[in-house]
Amino acid sequence: MFDVNEVVGELQGLREEGYLSDALLRRAVRSIFSSEERFDWVGIYLLRSEENVLWLHNYLGDPTPHATIPVGEGVCGMAVANNENINVPDVTQNDNYLSCSPKVKSEMVVLIRGNDQIFGQIDIDSHQDAAFTDEDLAALEEVAEKLAEQMVQELTL
Ligand code: SME
Repeated sequence: MFDVNEVVGELQGLREEGYLSDALLRRAVRSIFSSEERFDWVGIYLLRSEENVLWLHNYLGDPTPHATIPVGEGVCGMAVANNENINVPDVTQNDNYLSCSPKVKSEMVVLIRGNDQIFGQIDIDSHQDAAFTDEDLAALEEVAEKLAEQMVQELTL
């Protein structure tokens, strides 16, 4: 399990040094990706609410054909439409699933939310079946919360 206190501490450190969300979003992806072998693809999508579309901000892992995903489509778009985090233990059993790679077996999406709005989401794919646990969810929620804290702050810049 990745050390959530370390990752959140790193992100807070960047904030205190004056870095903006762009740097935090990249650091979060890097830290999460390198923390666990079972995390084969890690990315952050940002919500463009005017267009109701998710845009891929940055990722590590194989390139994906899904650089943009309309809200309501895919696991990613459904998470936004339903305003809920999603753990998909078996992607073949999910009707909404948009495939990035045939190697992917399971996926987790955790929303970045603050100030009563959805800023985006952390999306993780694994080549292992049912790779994601409740512990992962709780840790990723803490990371998402730290990212949201910065994004809320930037609303008033
Ligand atoms: N599987 C996602 C698409 C994004 S890729 O995993 C990078 C979905 O169903 O929305």
